[in-house]
Amino acid sequence: MSDESKSTNITWHDHEVNREDREKQNGHKSCVLWYTGLSGYGKSTLAQAVSTALFEMGCRTYVLDGDNIRHGLNKNLGFSPEDRTENIRRIGEVAKLFADAGIITSTAFISPYRADRDQARALLPESFIEVYVKADLAVCEERDPKGLYKKARAGEIPEFTGISAPYEEPLNAEIVVDTGKAPLEACVQTVIDALKERGILS
Ligand code: ADX
Repeated sequence: MSDESKSTNITWHDHEVNREDREKQNGHKSCVLWYTGLSGYGKSTLAQAVSTALFEMGCRTYVLDGDNIRHGLNKNLGFSPEDRTENIRRIGEVAKLFADAGIITSTAFISPYRADRDQARALLPESFIEVYVKADLAVCEERDPKGLYKKARAGEIPEFTGISAPYEEPLNAEIVVDTGKAPLEACVQTVIDALKERGILS
C-alpha cells in the first residue's frame, strides 16, 4: 500500500482547545505506551492492568488492542508484511490523535517490524514510550492461550509471528518487562514508575 496522500485541496485546522489545555485539565500529561512483543505473552493483559491502575488514579486512559481493532477499523488487513505495516501505520496515527486528546494511550500490537514501530515513534516525538514485553517463544508456545501456536506449528496458520514470520526485537525500548519472570503487579508498577520518571504523572 502506498503511503502517498491521495487527498488534495485540504487544509489543516488547529483546535481551539489544544493538547496542553487538555493536559492541564486532566492533571497529567498524555503519551503513548507502545506495547510490543509476541502473541500470547500478556501485552493486552499488562496494557489493561496499567490502564486500570491509571484510571483508579484519576487519569484519562484508553487501550487500543490488536485483536479488537482487527474486528473493526483494520478488519480489511491480514498478516502479510504489507498488511502488518498498514495496521501499525493506522494505529500510529490513531494513537497520535488520542495523545492529542490528552489521553494516556496504550497500544497492544505485536508490531513485529522495527521500521514500523520507528515510524510510529516519529509521529509522536517525546510522547512515545516503547514497552517491550519480552517473551520466551517456548513459554508462549507452552501457554498458547488461544491455541494459535499449535495451529501454526501444524501449518494451519501461515505467517505466524515467531513460527513462520519474524519478530524484530526492540533495540532501545524505554521499558522492558518479562511477564513470565515478574508478577503482573510488579510489571504494572514498572510502567507506572516510568510514567512518573518522565513527568507524565506528577
Ligand atoms: S501485528 O503483527 O499486525 O501487529 P496484531 O497485534 O494486530 O498483529 O494481531 C495479532 C493477533 O492476531 C494475535 O494476538 C493473534 O491472536 C492473531 N493472529 C492471527 N493470525 C496471526 C498471525 N499469522 N501472526 C500473528 N498473530 C496472528
